[in-house]
Amino acid sequence: MKRILVTGGLGFIGSHTVVELQNEGFEVVIIDNLSNTTIEVLDGITAITNKKPVFFQIDLKNISKVKKFFKNNKIDGVIHFAASKAVGESVNEPLKYYENNITTLVYLLKEMQKNKVNNLIFSSSCTVYGQADELPITEETPIKPADSPYGNTKQIGEEIITDTTKISDLNAIVLRYFNPIGGHQSILIGELPIGIPQNLIPFITQTAAGVRECLSIFGDDYETPDGTAVRDYIHVVDLAKAHIVAMKRLFTKNNKEKIEFFNIGTGKGSSVLTVINAFEKVNNQKLNYKIVPRRVGDIASAYADTTLANNELGWKSKLTLQDALRAAWLWQEK
Ligand code: UD1
Repeated sequence: MKRILVTGGLGFIGSHTVVELQNEGFEVVIIDNLSNTTIEVLDGITAITNKKPVFFQIDLKNISKVKKFFKNNKIDGVIHFAASKAVGESVNEPLKYYENNITTLVYLLKEMQKNKVNNLIFSSSCTVYGQADELPITEETPIKPADSPYGNTKQIGEEIITDTTKISDLNAIVLRYFNPIGGHQSILIGELPIGIPQNLIPFITQTAAGVRECLSIFGDDYETPDGTAVRDYIHVVDLAKAHIVAMKRLFTKNNKEKIEFFNIGTGKGSSVLTVINAFEKVNNQKLNYKIVPRRVGDIASAYADTTLANNELGWKSKLTLQDALRAAWLWQEK
């Protein structure tokens, strides 16, 4: 049985991935510093899978703890989620982002190398493409200069891993996520934004629940069919499954390059208004919203060409936007 280290395994995408890993029979060890989640997520995972993953509360910035961890635990593969992810915050606190997302990656790779752990899945983002000149976005779409320190940490992270694969036995798969939303059908785990949500779906569910008064739509003057910005919203359970397929690809040595990159999305773009309407319909809710100016740093449109992931990885999203919006609302209600 393969043992997978999942860093950030109690976060939104991490927890859903741990569930899928355990369902597939992998042994899971989680490292999380609980900076943006709570320990109760561990109970949710345990309740869904009937198995409690091994958990260490470790901050990856603590190199001596990371060293000790790898010395004491036999690991076959790593899925690395642990990172800070708020775009606005990263602009105001760039060094926090470089330390949390880059320093920790270097520590992790060093210890993996030392302990001959040669399989890595890295959590990247479609943010690396910025506003692409052509849509849909393929893996060949040029990387644009990053708009934020957060985005830059994803670009630099990809480069650090690429360089490491060149001089070591490391094999890596980089997954570039589009917009992950939704939650587990059990309603035992979901997205847990701390403070005022920055992302669209948690803001929608909190507005519907009356926690927020009114949803602001950031701009209706984009060059899109209805003027609001378009994104590729991917159900987090589908996204989680992509990690399992990718890990198996490394274990069976089916990867064609030492580092491979895949877009993980649905291939379908939805505007903010489309999402709002779908949410209202599927959940029988009325949302209070208003149009406000564009948010600084936002792009008009991004959606994935998923051909490579479909054909090469053998992965395809199955759940719909409606499934995700239903799951998000059930979770909010709970
Ligand atoms: C953002 C980040 C992205 C990051 C991801 C992580 C930016 C520019 N991008 O993606 O790099 O990987 O979060 O979660 O910040 N919207 C509203 N009202 C709201 C919130 C959002 O209209 O209250 C709109 C946005 O303008 C956007 C869409 O909804 O068009 C999705 O926004 P969001 O959920 O924040 O995701 P991204 O901005 O696409």
